[in-house]
Amino acid sequence: MTELGPVAWPPDPIRTGRLVLRGSEARDRAAFIDLLASPEVHTYLGGPRPRDGLERETPAAPERWPGSFVVDLDGAMIGQILLRRATEHRRPAAVGKVDLGYLFLPQAWGFGYAAEACAAALDWFADALPGEPVVLATQTANTRSMRLAAKLGFTEVERFEAWDAEQWLGMWSPLTPRD
Ligand SMILES: CC(C)(COP(=O)(O)OP(=O)(O)OC[C@H]1O[C@@H](n2cnc3c(N)ncnc32)[C@H](O)[C@@H]1OP(=O)(O)O)[C@@H](O)C(=O)NCCC(=O)NCCS
Repeated sequence: MTELGPVAWPPDPIRTGRLVLRGSEARDRAAFIDLLASPEVHTYLGGPRPRDGLERETPAAPERWPGSFVVDLDGAMIGQILLRRATEHRRPAAVGKVDLGYLFLPQAWGFGYAAEACAAALDWFADALPGEPVVLATQTANTRSMRLAAKLGFTEVERFEAWDAEQWLGMWSPLTPRD
């Protein structure tokens, strides 16, 4: 994964109906550790990381890079959205394209927050890098993620086997170029 592209970062906070998307800050550190240590969050992502290692190694202000949005509900982080350019990818259709990832704390699942936040991140992306598509890879067994991808407008490119599981590669394109 490399640089997203020529984007201004961090962006001005993006407000949706219920949420704010912003760059990460020192006050998000505990939530990042909860996110990365959660077995539930990592069921389909290769398993969680040990909490004691995370407590030692997580920097004061984690994940401060262009394309890493903190999703904030009422002043507290509930999830992370990642937009990264996939310079290397096991599927040729995804190489060089920007890849969407999303991780939300389990207590924030089931309220439509991920859909609301990802739609805003894709809107931001369509303005920042007009005309570029976005790819997304997820396990087909990850039904919440599969539903979210469909809701966001990703369509199937292909299914493939990796890490002993069936994976789904989807693609999203901005409907109309913006000016
Ligand atoms: C994938 C993930 C982000 C999906 O979260 P989610 O909360 O299910 O997704 P959404 O924001 O689309 O919310 C959908 C649910 O909110 C419900 N909902 C409640 N209020 C709502 C509202 N006001 N608006 C929209 N939906 C609402 C929907 O009915 C739906 O519920 P259901 O799942 O019981 O049908 C979450 O499960 C997660 O973080 N998983 C771990 C990380 C992961 O696997 N990431 C994928 C690989 S990158």
